[in-house]
Amino acid sequence: MITFEHVSRRYRERLALDAVSWHMDEGECVVFAGPSGAGKTTLLRLITHELAPSSGTVTVGTFRGARLPRAKRALLRRTLGIIYEDFRLLNDRTVFENVALAVRITGHFADAEVVPRTLYALEEVGLQQKQAAYPSELSAGEKQRAAIARAIVNRPAVVLADEPTGALEPASAKEILALLRRIHEEGAALLVVTTRPEVGAELGGRVLRLQDGRIAADEAPARSPYAQPAFGVTPPAATPDPGA
Ligand SMILES: Nc1ncnc2c1ncn2[C@@H]1O[C@H](COP(=O)(O)OP(=O)(O)OP(=O)(O)O)[C@@H](O)[C@H]1O
Ligand SMILES: [Mg+2]
Repeated sequence: MITFEHVSRRYRERLALDAVSWHMDEGECVVFAGPSGAGKTTLLRLITHELAPSSGTVTVGTFRGARLPRAKRALLRRTLGIIYEDFRLLNDRTVFENVALAVRITGHFADAEVVPRTLYALEEVGLQQKQAAYPSELSAGEKQRAAIARAIVNRPAVVLADEPTGALEPASAKEILALLRRIHEEGAALLVVTTRPEVGAELGGRVLRLQDGRIAADEAPARSPYAQPAFGVTPPAATPDPGA
C-alpha cells in the first residue's frame, strides 16, 4: 500500500528524512510518533507527493516514483483522505458544503448522489445536527469531525492525519481518536503522525518512532484487552493425569 525505499529529503543543508525505509499494508494502522522536527510532516507530504524525495522511492498503491506528473498527483490525492491539526475548513461554507465540495470535486457523482453521500459521512462522524452551521459556529472537536467527514466521504483507501488532536482538549482528543479507530476498523488504512505518545495506544496501531529523520523503533500494536474473547471461551480440556 505505502512503501518507502531509502527515502531522504533535504531542505538545503537540513536533512529532514535520512534514508528511511518502511512499508504499510492495506488496511493497516500505523502511528509515527516523534518530537517536533523529527520529520513527520515531511513524511506525509512525500506520501501525498506535495514534496519529491531528494533520493529514494515512495510508492503509494499503484503510484510509484519520485516526480509524478500533475494529473497523476491529482489522481493519487483522490485515493487519500487527509486530516490536519488546524482542520483547514472553508470558513465561508457550511459544514455540509465543506464535505459536499469534496464529493463534487471528484467529478464522479451526479448532483443527486452528492447529497446522500455527504449526509452519510456527516452521520458517520455524528454531525448531522450541525450540517447547516459554519465552521466559526463549531467547537474545535466538531470542526475536526467535519474535517474527518470530508476526508472519508470519498471512501479513500488511506486516511492520513497530521497531529489530528493537536488543537483539542483531552476529552475531545479521545473522541476523535475513537472515531479514527472506528474508521480504521471499517477497513481504511490509517496513518497518523504525532508528537503525543498516547495516540499509538489509543488507536491500537503499530507505532514507528521517528527521531532526527530516522526510524528508531517499530513496535507492534499493543494488545487491546478486548482483542481476546472474554466470554464464551471453552476452557482447555483437562490434561489426563499421567500418574492415574
Ligand atoms: N520548507 C522547509 N524549509 C526548510 N526546512 C524545513 C522545511 N520544512 C521542514 N523543515 C525542517 O525539516 C525538519 C523536519 O520538519 P517536519 O515539519 O517534517 O517536522 P515534524 O516532525 O512535522 O515537526 P512538528 O511536530 O513540529 O510538526 C525540521 O528540522 C524542519 O525545520
Ligand atoms: Mg509537523
